Amino acid sequence: MNPQIYAPAEDSYLFRDFLKKILSKSGNRDIQYLDMGTGSGILAETVAKFINKDNILAADTNPEAVKIARQKGLKAIKTNLFDKIPKSKKFDIITFNAPYLPRDNREPKESQLATTGGKRGDEISVKFLNQAKSYLKKGGKIFLLISSLTPQDKIQKFRTKIVARKKVFFEELQILEFS
Ligand SMILES: C[S@@+](CC[C@H](N)C(=O)[O-])C[C@H]1O[C@@H](n2cnc3c(N)ncnc32)[C@H](O)[C@@H]1O
Repeated sequence: MNPQIYAPAEDSYLFRDFLKKILSKSGNRDIQYLDMGTGSGILAETVAKFINKDNILAADTNPEAVKIARQKGLKAIKTNLFDKIPKSKKFDIITFNAPYLPRDNREPKESQLATTGGKRGDEISVKFLNQAKSYLKKGGKIFLLISSLTPQDKIQKFRTKIVARKKVFFEELQILEFS
C-alpha cells in the first residue's frame, strides 16, 4: 500500500505562518527555496506567494506527494533526503517539517513515513542536518520542525536556536533555525 500523504496539521500551520512572517518582511522574490518532505505541498505553496515559483523545489520520498506537487505546477523530486538533489544546487532557505516521533509499532505502516523519525525519533532530522549544510548558500538558513518528544541531544550539537514554538496537547512543537 502507498504511504499516505500527510494531511496538514498543527505543525504544518505553525510552519506555514512562520514562513509567511519571515517572507513578507524579506521582499526578495529571487531566493532559492527547498521544501524537504513537502507532503501536501502546503509550505511550498505558501512560499510561492512570496518568491518566483521556478525557484522552489519540493522534495519527498513519497511518490504521491511528488505527483501532487507537480500537478500544482511546482518543481518536485522524489528523493530520500538529499540523495537525488544535485550537489551543485544551493538554496537560501531549506525547510523540513520532519517526521519526528519515536517509532510506535501500533501505528499503521502507511502513516509512519510522515510521522516516525526512527527508533528514537531524531534519526531522520540528524541525517537531514548533516546533509543540508552543503546545500546552503552563504547566509542561507535551515529551518527544521521537531517536537519536545524528539530527543534533542544530537540535534543540539548543531548550532541552533528556537525561532517559533507552540504547545499542542502533550507536546510542544518547535521550529529550529540553523545558519
Ligand atoms: C510531517 S510530514 C510534513 C508534510 C508537509 N511538509 C507539512 O508540513 O504538512 C513529513 C514529510 O516528510 C516526508 N519524508 C519522510 N522521510 C523522508 C525522507 N527520508 N526524505 C524525504 N522526505 C521524507 C514524508 O513523506 C512526509 O511527506
